[in-house]
Amino acid sequence: MVTQPAAYPSRIRGAGLELRPWDADLVRQMATWGERGFPYHAFDLGYLKDPRRASAGLARTREDGPHRHFVACEEGVAVGRVSVNLRDEAGLYLWSVHVPPEHEGRGVCRRMLATLMTWLEEQYPRSDFVLTTNTFATHAHRAYRALGFATSETRWHFDRDIAEELWRAPSAAREEIAPHVRFHNGRWEVRVFIMRRRRGTPMSVGPAAEVRLSQGDQDDGRDAGGA
Ligand SMILES: CC(C)(COP(=O)(O)OP(=O)(O)OC[C@H]1O[C@@H](n2cnc3c(N)ncnc32)[C@H](O)[C@@H]1OP(=O)(O)O)[C@@H](O)C(=O)NCCC(=O)NCCS
Repeated sequence: MVTQPAAYPSRIRGAGLELRPWDADLVRQMATWGERGFPYHAFDLGYLKDPRRASAGLARTREDGPHRHFVACEEGVAVGRVSVNLRDEAGLYLWSVHVPPEHEGRGVCRRMLATLMTWLEEQYPRSDFVLTTNTFATHAHRAYRALGFATSETRWHFDRDIAEELWRAPSAAREEIAPHVRFHNGRWEVRVFIMRRRRGTPMSVGPAAEVRLSQGDQDDGRDAGGA
């Protein structure tokens, strides 16, 4: 059986951003993004400098399946990224929310998520939103709360990547997240919030960035199934 590549809208516009599917040019740009290192190392994209890993990464974003991966651009410049699982049983599941350090603190995260969720609400009218966030990611939580997310649950979670890094991280770095991790039953665990947002909940994206998607603003053509 021949598998179809995942279908994407060519772009979604709103709040001064254009959300696009990954392409070779955007991958090149993201490879040069600043990195944060531990404990945010899982978001760092420096590995995209390796051409083989870059093309494998790009191909993964086009695989058929529940996930869609978007890059937020300002006038062609990649300033953030976000992925969504369209078929998670908990709801439209946002993940890989990432704005590099050189673009942070000016509302890219809020504007990117507001634009994506406005579009998803139109495309998937029966679904609410959900995400998981490490409790130490305080900047992210401010953005999520402004967008109408509320914590529905707190859990301890085994994250292999963070657990491995915790053995290696310098003590100063470990200190920073000490209140958010525990050593339990022989392994490191990290505290996570499950946050949910009902569709239609008001979103605050900042004074200059009302999100209005109009017919002319978005590509309405080629989204994949699941709606
Ligand atoms: C979390 C993250 C996506 C935020 O992106 P952003 O574009 O800077 O976020 P926004 O500007 O929309 O809003 C975040 C809030 O944090 C504040 N903020 C962001 N960076 C900040 C910084 N360096 N210092 C102080 N405040 C900061 C913003 O002012 C804003 O506060 P406000 O709500 O009071 O206005 C980005 O910092 C990031 O990628 N971090 C690493 C990965 C991560 O944590 N992802 C989320 C995992 S669930």
